[in-house]
Amino acid sequence: MRTQVGIVGAGPAGLLLSHLLHLDGIDSVLIESRSRQEIEATIRAGVLEHGTVELLKKTGVGSRMQREGFVHEGVYLRFGGRTHRIDFKALTGGRAIMVYAQHEVIKDLVAARLAAGGKILFEVKDAAVYDLDTPAPKVRFHHGGKVEELECDFIAGCDGFHGITRPSIPSRMRHEFTRVYPFGWFGILVEAPPSTDELIYAAHERGFALVSTRSPQIQRLYLQCDPDDEVKNWPEHRIWEELHARLESADGWKLAEGRIFQKSVIAMRSFVLEPMRYGRLFLAGDAAHIVPPTGAKGLNLAAADVRVLSQALVSFYKNQKEQLLKDYSATALRRVWRAEHFSWWMTSMLHRFHDETPFHHRLQLAELDYVVASRAKAQTLAENYVGLPLD
Ligand code: FAD
Ligand code: DHB
Repeated sequence: MRTQVGIVGAGPAGLLLSHLLHLDGIDSVLIESRSRQEIEATIRAGVLEHGTVELLKKTGVGSRMQREGFVHEGVYLRFGGRTHRIDFKALTGGRAIMVYAQHEVIKDLVAARLAAGGKILFEVKDAAVYDLDTPAPKVRFHHGGKVEELECDFIAGCDGFHGITRPSIPSRMRHEFTRVYPFGWFGILVEAPPSTDELIYAAHERGFALVSTRSPQIQRLYLQCDPDDEVKNWPEHRIWEELHARLESADGWKLAEGRIFQKSVIAMRSFVLEPMRYGRLFLAGDAAHIVPPTGAKGLNLAAADVRVLSQALVSFYKNQKEQLLKDYSATALRRVWRAEHFSWWMTSMLHRFHDETPFHHRLQLAELDYVVASRAKAQTLAENYVGLPLD
């Protein structure tokens, strides 16, 4: 098998890259270790930045998102029993975010690729990448009981944090930056009406809580938990007790309860690989970097990476220019580090740390107070949350 760009991993990064390349007439083959059903059912992120929304719309894969997603023009910060609104629209010159689940984006992209005759191989096993520092890199894998070899001009490593492409880069060529947080998130999906018109980020003595949504019938809620926590430690009465306590509000606001039908524990880390390239292997999305979920940046960074990468590949094939490919890592990393900083800042400001002193806690409260009192500080939060311009 031969293609121009071999893509490992059909997450948001791999699927969107394949879609963007196709729009510019560049051929790709996408290989994915899981089944189509699995990737379309995995519950993850929910917030799309302004730029991600515009990119999906502009490239013809935004129509269901526009019908079924929810435009939010602000978020609430709740602390000390009081609720404060950060008005994105007023603070960013009219920008907003879209609440639309990651697995719905995946469904839309898979449907678009298949409708356009795109090649996605699901349930491949034992993928490995070779000859990365030659002009003909290869991907080898098992598929349908056979060993296949895919010869490419370039390989895109879009296989997430636990994938095989990043470890295929010689360790002496990898500079990795990591921070592991001393807590995780316990996430649930609930059959209940919305309790709020916009997301609530709550900082409380008992820990962080977040109220998000998926539809008029389904709500998404998160609680700060122990990093090694397990779903079995969270019986329903404990979940509701913590949520009610952490979301308490002086204004009589009430959280609607309902049937919990999905529970999971999410680890929290910051991670960056530099550079995001080795020879003809280019990494994008979680394969190259991880952010803690507090800023809702993971999926959006994956989209921003592949936009830069697709433009560089288009320039290579259409104009025989390699400069944008040479610049890819540095260009992508500028945005990555901005998002790393924002996600670390939101995480640090809103969570309880097991080793924090009363002094540190007072500093957190002073910072929150400043965010809601100062237009400059609120604007910092707003412009990062809706996402800095893609260009
Ligand atoms: P992924 O979505 O991880 O996709 C990688 C794909 O590669 C997967 O489909 C995987 O099966 C495939 N793959 C892996 N190894 C191989 C292999 N060897 N061969 C072939 N295919 C392979 N972000 C937020 O902003 N908010 C959230 O609430 C949030 N929740 C999250 C919850 C969890 C449990 C996780 C893991 C992440 C969460 N994130 C969240 C982060 C966000 O979902 C990711 O940043 C986003 O999925 C990154 O997209 P990606 O395409 O780079 O990687
Ligand atoms: C959601 C996830 C996040 O990480 C976040 O900051 C906001 C919302 C969500 O899943 O809806």
